[in-house]
Amino acid sequence: MKVPVLDLKAEYTELRDEILPALDRVCRNAAFVLGEEVEAFEKEFADFCGTKHCVALNSGTAGLHLGLLALGVQADHEVITTPNTFLATVEAISYCGAVPVFVDIDPATANLDPKLIERAITPRTRAILPVHLYGRPADMDPIREIAARHNLRVLEDAAQAHGARYRGRRVGGLTHAGMFSFYPTKNLAAYGEGGALTTNDDQVAKFARAARSHGQTARYEHEFVGYNYRMQGFQAAVLRIKLRRLCAWTARRQEIARLYRRLLAGARLELPVDDPRDECAYHQFVIYVSNRNAVAAQLTAREIETVVHYPRPVHLQPAYSSLGLPPGTFPLAERACERALSLPLHPGLTNEQIEYVARCVREVLGEK
Ligand SMILES: Cc1ncc(COP(=O)(O)O)c(C=O)c1O
Repeated sequence: MKVPVLDLKAEYTELRDEILPALDRVCRNAAFVLGEEVEAFEKEFADFCGTKHCVALNSGTAGLHLGLLALGVQADHEVITTPNTFLATVEAISYCGAVPVFVDIDPATANLDPKLIERAITPRTRAILPVHLYGRPADMDPIREIAARHNLRVLEDAAQAHGARYRGRRVGGLTHAGMFSFYPTKNLAAYGEGGALTTNDDQVAKFARAARSHGQTARYEHEFVGYNYRMQGFQAAVLRIKLRRLCAWTARRQEIARLYRRLLAGARLELPVDDPRDECAYHQFVIYVSNRNAVAAQLTAREIETVVHYPRPVHLQPAYSSLGLPPGTFPLAERACERALSLPLHPGLTNEQIEYVARCVREVLGEK
């Protein structure tokens, strides 16, 4: 039995009858960049997140960049974040000329550990950038309290967490601003690049709207030097169709995660912990195993595809060697990166496929 981590071709087959007329509508309206599909998507996604504003962009990375700029991050500021993330989280800090300051993770959730934040704050700290990794909300209450105490801004990296809930509220609207990615592998995915900045703050939204389009506040009125970070009409048209299915897809992801947890109970592995007060969007189902690469190879031999998110924490990437942070600096993030293995998880998988994966994982690992 083949079990892929993703099956975008099958998903397209299911959606084709809706997608093609929507793309045709974009062509007939010749609204290729921004335009009415983008505006409609912005409204629908803001409603979904429970935020006042959504500014649609051409990538999640652009959302992080504009989000940090809108929150006042400038050259020589420091931004506190996690080393256990995709590089883009940290790149956006660098784009602002600011310095990333890492704190280690809570191994139970793989997210930034709020208990470690305060000791990393200096007079140059301007913002905290928590990541809701794998769709699991970071612990936002203590993060917000620390931010309020030290007059810091908070930007949520919700690239992997569309629809996840923290204490009943959807992520993206929990702090000053939130960012989403619609990269094709994400839970809500475009047919190309896409991203968004969500916020309840009028000033943040106003800045991001101008900044995504060369600093324009009206046609050919450039108030400042901005960027070309605009969303394409085609992407918004696709995202609107998929957004209508997102709740059902997320519910299926959560059901698959429950099934995995039940079937893997007692196997020689560790699993991230779900706080019962929250709702993980299950972008990934990650297991932690001691001999990860061998386990992955044995699953590949059984036609089960796996991915490693992520094999190396950001502070050990060559791109950030100039920070001079040697192995051992963030032991818990490093341990997670050595052991993490993402099993197949997408709404198109059958229970039989999940049972097959769990059976093979148990077989490869042996019982505790
Ligand atoms: C945690 C995280 N942050 C940021 C990004 C960047 O998003 P994008 O690829 O849309 O620029 C991604 C996804 O790729 C991500 O997973």
